[in-house]
Amino acid sequence: MGCHNFLSIRDFSPEEIRYLLDLAREMKAHPSAHTGALKGKTLAMIFEKPSLRTRVSFDVGIQQLGGFALYLSNAEISLGKRESVYDVAKNLERMVQGIMVRTYAHDIVERMAEYASIPIINGLTDYSHPCQAMADYLTMFELKGDAAGLKVAFIGDGNNVCHSLMFAGAQLGAHVWVATPDGYEPKADAVQWAVERGRQSGGTCTLTHDPVEAATGADVVYTDVWASMGQEAEKESRHRIFAPYQVNAELFGHAKFDALFMHCLPAHRGDEVTDAVIDSAHSVVYQQAENRLHAQKAILLELMHYREVLEPVREAELLRT
Ligand code: CP
Ligand code: NVA
Repeated sequence: MGCHNFLSIRDFSPEEIRYLLDLAREMKAHPSAHTGALKGKTLAMIFEKPSLRTRVSFDVGIQQLGGFALYLSNAEISLGKRESVYDVAKNLERMVQGIMVRTYAHDIVERMAEYASIPIINGLTDYSHPCQAMADYLTMFELKGDAAGLKVAFIGDGNNVCHSLMFAGAQLGAHVWVATPDGYEPKADAVQWAVERGRQSGGTCTLTHDPVEAATGADVVYTDVWASMGQEAEKESRHRIFAPYQVNAELFGHAKFDALFMHCLPAHRGDEVTDAVIDSAHSVVYQQAENRLHAQKAILLELMHYREVLEPVREAELLRT
């Protein structure tokens, strides 16, 4: 793996994304195979926003590998306010072996990675949520065999989860459709990257304002909250604008007969998705949530163990040849 951090799905080659997904599947199948791999290692987890899945899956994941997780809330460190991002990075690198960050501006995780000598993992920013996309495609691999050629319809807000779903879809050869209201499309740079990477992998990325067009014939229908963390003030106006994008039984009915319903969670039942869909036999939302654990264990193992153990061996082999 060429990358020291896990900041964006875009930083990896398609082969590296597939390698991490394969590793996650292997670790899920053989949970005790890597016990103790991260013995003596500590992951600092900086949370500037709330979390259930990310916090629990990283904490439990590193424990299962023999390491330890340290939870740091905004009340403790107040990134960039009590102390600069630079100083937080330079202090933590002396005491822990990896940092997971959930924050607002995406450049904070990029700056942490620039300053710190230890791996930085993006646990969600306003721009992207790469760990979520790894769990999402792991779920698709388990249930559909692969993601290549699948029609993946994301319906709702062109947000952080949508961006990472597009990036990973482009890496893996999926046909990602994004249906949003006018003005809520994914960022232009994200779309451009997905379209270009898709040309190499056989994937596509298509935007529409018509949820039915996106859902029709889809293998996967995905949605997320209409107002993300940090957008609470827009909640009411978004509620009106996004109402036609609700994933209900009628909209889901346009998808393939064996389509999956996916959601990163937390869900606002009755808003972006109805109970009839999220509680249906098509829904795989709890499998996605569980797969956060397995996908992230693979990321932790690669960044905090294999890079130290395998890279010197690989480099020595390269020198010999
Ligand atoms: N999907 C997800 O990241 O959930 P949390 O916000 O609870 O961590
Ligand atoms: N888009 C949501 C995802 C939560 C996991 C948010 O940023 O709040």
